[in-house]
Amino acid sequence: MSKEGTVAAQIAQLSKELEKHNHQYYILNSPSISDYEFDQLMKELEDLEAKHPDLALPYSPTKRVGGDLTKSFNTVNHDYPMLSLSNSYSKEEIVEFIERIQKQTEGSVTFVCELKYDGVAIGIKYRDGVFHQAVTRGDGQKGDDVSANVKTIRTVPMSLQGYNYPSEFEIRGEIILPKSKFESLNRAMKEAGESTYANPRNTASGTIKLQDSSIVAQRGLMCYLYGIYSPSIVANGHFESVKNAGKWGFNTPRSEDKMIAQCGTIDEIMEFIHYWDVHRHELDFEIDGIVIKVDDYELQDELGYTAKSPRWAIAYKFKAEQAVTELEEITFQVGRTGAITPVANLTPVQLAGTTVKRASLHNADIIEKLDVRIGDWVFVEKGGEIIPKIVGVDEGQRNPVSLPFQYIKHCPECSTELVRREGEAQHFCPNTTGCRPQIIGRIQHFISRRAMDIAGLGEETIVQLYDHKLIHSIPDLYQLKEVDLTNLERFGEKSISNLLTGISDSRDQPFEKVLFGLGIRHVGETVAKKLVKHFKTIDNLTNASLEELIEAPEIGNVIAESIQEYFQDKAYQEELNRLQEAGLQFEMVESEEAQSVSTTLEGKVLVVSGVFERVGRDELKALIEQHGGKNGSSISGKTDYLVAGDKMGPSKLAKAEKLGVEIIDESTFFEMISS
Ligand code: IVH
Repeated sequence: MSKEGTVAAQIAQLSKELEKHNHQYYILNSPSISDYEFDQLMKELEDLEAKHPDLALPYSPTKRVGGDLTKSFNTVNHDYPMLSLSNSYSKEEIVEFIERIQKQTEGSVTFVCELKYDGVAIGIKYRDGVFHQAVTRGDGQKGDDVSANVKTIRTVPMSLQGYNYPSEFEIRGEIILPKSKFESLNRAMKEAGESTYANPRNTASGTIKLQDSSIVAQRGLMCYLYGIYSPSIVANGHFESVKNAGKWGFNTPRSEDKMIAQCGTIDEIMEFIHYWDVHRHELDFEIDGIVIKVDDYELQDELGYTAKSPRWAIAYKFKAEQAVTELEEITFQVGRTGAITPVANLTPVQLAGTTVKRASLHNADIIEKLDVRIGDWVFVEKGGEIIPKIVGVDEGQRNPVSLPFQYIKHCPECSTELVRREGEAQHFCPNTTGCRPQIIGRIQHFISRRAMDIAGLGEETIVQLYDHKLIHSIPDLYQLKEVDLTNLERFGEKSISNLLTGISDSRDQPFEKVLFGLGIRHVGETVAKKLVKHFKTIDNLTNASLEELIEAPEIGNVIAESIQEYFQDKAYQEELNRLQEAGLQFEMVESEEAQSVSTTLEGKVLVVSGVFERVGRDELKALIEQHGGKNGSSISGKTDYLVAGDKMGPSKLAKAEKLGVEIIDESTFFEMISS
């Protein structure tokens, strides 16, 4: 071997050895060499790398001390959207969730309970067993590449142990700052006369975005991993996956520490919740609840996702901390749909590490129920929402001459008399086309990222354009001209051109985005997609009767009525006409529908199970549909074929055999669809 080759081999060997010791020390808590010996090995590697910088590996353990500076983080698209969990605050909601899933499934369901780490989400990609890239959650679709910072976290492996990991995969988890590190950091800040950090979560999230990775390295962040994403998953379920990840060197929760458990009954789940409700303060990091997930991947697939969160998981949030403070005033906000939200203005108070000045009071009923009065001392809680809420009044401290609060009768913005529809808790301002916050809010919603995603146009600009009387409704955007904008503050030639191009380009946005952007009450992203798929054109949708609307998948009475009400409104009809004239998309384009390739599998039900060589499971399922077949979720008498991959559970095979279902392998499947 050449000298170069020998040094390269030495560097690789030392890197691997150090990584192993790192794992034993930081993750397993059982080092097999002394700190001194570890430092010697590290020094040896550092020396070699200093002499042969071109041979240093990108995943070298010497990188853990940081040093890389990042001027601005690159934006990276997520391969899988980073969703959130639906939250629940009561055990009843958990029972409902479990029973709903049990009802939907024939056999028994296993759940996995784990901790809800209170930190910042991270997705880390590995290629051929080495760290590739770490990306923050961002807006869920795209995040920042914070690899240089994440590499400094000792509980994130640079190279993996074992061998049976997929060649490419992403692991998701939470970066957290241990309480002890947070406290010592704040002590140091105080000593240095600098302002202290509010709580470990905020500090972790600020730290991961620091430009100097050597500061990140000193903070002592850690990382717990909770999910693997890969086209070729090597496990049947979540629990097995987490265990595998632990074997590959990731910091995963251990059953021995009761940090993860498989539970088959509600009682077992409740026991897990109760245990951690009591013991959570013993951990050196903050958790804000428990996450309950369906274990089996196939069942997860079957349950699917809403636009925001998986249907196969739920978070149980612990009861929040409380503070007591004085209610100074109640003000009112008007939303884009005209909904009125009362807001409590409070004497500032510290709560769970942050200062609280305002709290939501939701609606008139809540105010009445709480009988909350100006000048009262109120209990404030942070229930996981960003805005804290008032949960009670200290009546012992009430001013005896205070009077019950009188809810407003007129819109605080446009003075129109408020209405309250039957069965609804909120008051509304009906002046949709003449009430400033409603108009601005509607246009802001229309241009927002999830709707028309108009580049060069932000919320502030909408306010500016409205206040300069340049726009008064959504279609006005498409009539803006350069001359209209030249006198606007903060607007140069470039920003004007960006704005006009952004607006013009938005004409190509698909119908579902336009429909969502219109801001029809109860028509969120998912509903908009369903409506487009079902009705295909705006004419079909506007002409649909209430019954026809309800017949569409997942459209209920409330949504259907709201859609009808919208399309019957003269002002909105005019808006729609103008948007159509402006050239926006009001029809589904064919490519939005799954392209049908053949009818080879027409009438056939196929169940896919295991791991495949040529394609991922989802891809295989898409192929089945493209060739006219149907995907079955579990093997039953109706199943025609079981497409069996590697690592398929023996029970599935046995069931298929018992029911006489034809079992085919991957290559047979491909032969079938190509014939
Ligand atoms: S699973 C599809 N498991 O909570 C969502 N999330 O609101 C899958 N989190 O963004 C997330 N601990 O940052 C999952 N054991 C855990 C978690 C966890 C904390 C965070 C995560 C996520 C947020 C969801």
